[in-house]
Amino acid sequence: MPSAYEQLLAATIAHVDDLKRGGVKYLPVDSESLAELNRPAARKAPIDPSSHTKAVAPAESAKSNALERPLARAVSSEGPVLTELIVDASVALSPEEKDAEMARIRERALACVKCPHLAKSRRNVVFGVGTIHTELMFVGEAPGMDEDQQGEPFVGKAGQLLTKIIQTMGLDRDKVYIANVLKCRPDTPGQRTGNRKPTLDEMNTCKPYLLAQISVIRPKVIVALGATAVEGLLGKTYGIMKLRGNWQDFNGVPLMPTYHPAYLLRNQSLTEKRKVWEDMLAIMEKLQMSINDKQRGYFLPK
Ligand code: URA
Repeated sequence: MPSAYEQLLAATIAHVDDLKRGGVKYLPVDSESLAELNRPAARKAPIDPSSHTKAVAPAESAKSNALERPLARAVSSEGPVLTELIVDASVALSPEEKDAEMARIRERALACVKCPHLAKSRRNVVFGVGTIHTELMFVGEAPGMDEDQQGEPFVGKAGQLLTKIIQTMGLDRDKVYIANVLKCRPDTPGQRTGNRKPTLDEMNTCKPYLLAQISVIRPKVIVALGATAVEGLLGKTYGIMKLRGNWQDFNGVPLMPTYHPAYLLRNQSLTEKRKVWEDMLAIMEKLQMSINDKQRGYFLPK
């Protein structure tokens, strides 16, 4: 006979499933409940004293062993950290396992209150969009107002340009994965409009989610959109002007830094557009995509 708690939990899950089937994507949750949801569950697995990184039971202890297996679980001396979400690169993942892992990461990110000021100000956690079964992943800086409202990265003006670039490559938004270094919109207290750059602290706090996303997707190429994305991913601050167009290495994955589409909206010159396009051509070559003459010639002076 299930306990009252188990019955309540089952009813809650059934209700949320119903809402999901009805098309509801996001639920408003107050920050106290979020904090509670974000609290790691009690440990079940014993700690291995011989290891520096200690094995812990996953937060969602009810999850199947299949889901637990691929995780590189680690705890810091302060307690469990989000690195437990990062999948060990040596473990092969089936498409179903990838889906399950990403769902688990998403669940944790949606309940995150690690930056209390952002948890308070955000409308939505903007986790990522597209397919996780892809070779190509785009990483931006942080959600802006449109993204915060819609819960999806790159849907504002810069996002529309990014979508166009992706389409010009012969792809579509649903054939790639798009995410940001920061999953919450940087708050702008006292301002109704405008965006601000994420702080280093915010980026470092949020980065494990991005690392976990990358560890599941295992893209063949990562595109870092703009200086902040490069800084968030590589820790390099010495200039997107110098870095763009030059392959970098991100934990063994080729990473192409390029200009942020917002920069191209501010600077509409053919030369700047061509630079970004050349970066895309280099990516297409790396991924052995076919490139036609029309694509090769975009934004060249006539
Ligand atoms: N700029 C970004 O870097 N990310 C978004 O999602 C939108 C705009």
